[in-house]
Amino acid sequence: MSEPDIDTLTEDEAKAELARLARVIAHHDRLYNQEDAPEITDAEYDALRARNAAIEARFPALRRADSPSLRVGAPAAQGFAKRAHGAPMLSLANAFSAEEFSRFFDTARRFLGRDAPFSLVAEPKIDGLSLSLTYEAGALVAATTRGDGAVGEDVTDNARVIDAVPQSLRPPFPARIEIRGEIFMAKADFLALNDAETAAGRRGFANPRNAAAGSLRQLDPRVTAGRRLGLFAYALGDVSQPVADSHWQYLQRLRDWGFSVNPYSERLTDEAEAAAFQAGIAERRGGLAYDIDGVVYKIDDLALQRRLGFAGREPRWAIAWKFPAEQAMTVLRQIDVQVGRTGALTPVAILAPVNVGGVLVTRATLHNEDEIARLDLREGDTVRIERAGDVIPRVLGMIPDLRPPGTAPFHLPDHCPACGSAAMRPPNEVVRRCTGGLICPAQRQERLVHFVSRGAFDIDGLGERSLAELQACGLIKSPADIFRLHAHEADIAAREGWGTVSARNLVHGIEARRTLPLARFIYALGIRRVGANTAKLLARHYRTIDAWRAAMREATIIGSDARLALGNILGIGPAIATELADFFIEPRNIALLDDLLREVRVSPDDFVASASRLAGKTLVFTGTLTHMTRPEAKARAEALGARVTESVTGKTDFVVVGADAGSKARRAAELGVAILSEEAWLDLARNEA
Ligand code: IVH
Repeated sequence: MSEPDIDTLTEDEAKAELARLARVIAHHDRLYNQEDAPEITDAEYDALRARNAAIEARFPALRRADSPSLRVGAPAAQGFAKRAHGAPMLSLANAFSAEEFSRFFDTARRFLGRDAPFSLVAEPKIDGLSLSLTYEAGALVAATTRGDGAVGEDVTDNARVIDAVPQSLRPPFPARIEIRGEIFMAKADFLALNDAETAAGRRGFANPRNAAAGSLRQLDPRVTAGRRLGLFAYALGDVSQPVADSHWQYLQRLRDWGFSVNPYSERLTDEAEAAAFQAGIAERRGGLAYDIDGVVYKIDDLALQRRLGFAGREPRWAIAWKFPAEQAMTVLRQIDVQVGRTGALTPVAILAPVNVGGVLVTRATLHNEDEIARLDLREGDTVRIERAGDVIPRVLGMIPDLRPPGTAPFHLPDHCPACGSAAMRPPNEVVRRCTGGLICPAQRQERLVHFVSRGAFDIDGLGERSLAELQACGLIKSPADIFRLHAHEADIAAREGWGTVSARNLVHGIEARRTLPLARFIYALGIRRVGANTAKLLARHYRTIDAWRAAMREATIIGSDARLALGNILGIGPAIATELADFFIEPRNIALLDDLLREVRVSPDDFVASASRLAGKTLVFTGTLTHMTRPEAKARAEALGARVTESVTGKTDFVVVGADAGSKARRAAELGVAILSEEAWLDLARNEA
């Protein structure tokens, strides 16, 4: 599309053009910062910003409050306040086959120690975005996106203009309730919206889900009001009093309150009915007015749901059985090499753009060089790719008959493309890594990006681009430098594209994160294999930064008590223990950590329900329990913030004694540790829940 020359723009045209650019740039910021799926090249993006800046230079009075020049690569959603959910918003485990589906419910049965099949509720899995609606005394008081599951964005003003969202509940209703459902855009409305967007010279959305998300997360509710959005309600968050005994009954209550519940939802008396239901919905899929990507199966009995609880971020009582992934063919134009934060060289397929199930795909992961060799992939090949839900597309294989002449096998370079250091592949490992460590700008950049990312320090206004820029000019060399940027506010303001407002916003964004919980802090360090869940386990176990740091130092000694204890934490294991030890053995890492701790304050973990009397307590279960299985008892205790260990020591707070308990009960008595009967434990767990 040819764009009008800036010098000849009238004031009205300039105004319209600035509005368009603000929207388009915000869109690309979101793809880049939040979805990690840029649709345009960096050069094209820079050209958009340059055009915006040039028009503003000619018409300074027209600069918009939401002008991209006032932001540094900030996500479009930056203007929303954050709100904590009353009960966390979780995701779902996936199954892709009947076997995975049955295995899931077998595990649930084992957990509960039961034999009978479950009654289930089956609901189409709507491909939209989840929204939590809070009602007090029957009136809508808040609407919050899922966010990271604990804290989402406050989109209440927008929810007030969506017809499908009841503004009040029909009585009777509980005093306070969080109702969850999926916001979506019907396929026909998506096509009409995109037609209108392209007619207006805008790019449009890649698929109905992005369109729904973009419409809900609008800073201006008038834009939301102009979009047709639907809502199917399907889940319960925090509630002031019980509202149903079964999920099926809950769906009926939702309808009574005024919500739409998906009409294809069904109650299945037995898991064995699921396969037929799955096939029936798959057949209907194309004819539905909205996109679905599978079926969610939920154990109907809410008392069982409560007992099963959650494993990490996923309920043990519901699973999404997804439809098979969509496939397409395209040309592998090039194989790029990226350097990750741990130095891993990752090949990336650059593809001729192709539409896969409604999403434009231009890149795919190739995992590692063995995978490329196994598939015999070469630049120029025609390849088959597959996209499963939200997962980055992967290359399944190439079509030998379509290979053009003159291709060559691909090899990863033996030097890092970013810093030139040797890139080594240790024997028995599949990954080749740059040995440049912190001298490698790509590794440094990726570590910093990780450090400020959502699950870590989550610093508003510090995106990939600004980090790269502030590194290049020497203001940031290590994570701790971020917290010293305030001393350079004036220098930053003077930089091109910044200005005093952006610089001040950045400094404020950083100050707001000077204190953070231990789990986030550990995750932010970017230690290999220590993801968000592992960081939470560590934070729960060690509780304070000092305790953790001291234990990790000691754990560098193989065979030390600290090393054994670390490897014994449920969910950690020896491989992660080794990574942690490797990190703490490196003096540069210790220096980096200590430097950082001079700048930030790490609060004890906030994940645990600290109101619980079991929080922070150490428990041992012994003997045969009659009311719950051992895994259920352990999960319940852990959910209440307790730590469950195998052996009774002076540090044990309670020993729960079932039938036929032996030496552990005796040892507890010797040490004077409190002993609970199974009934006393059940009472305690019930009252704390
Ligand atoms: S239940 C703890 N039911 O799928 C239970 N989710 O992959 C949480 N989704 O975040 C969700 N249709 O956005 C549930 N009928 C349905 C759903 C559904 C779509 C989405 C939802 C959730 C995601 C998990």
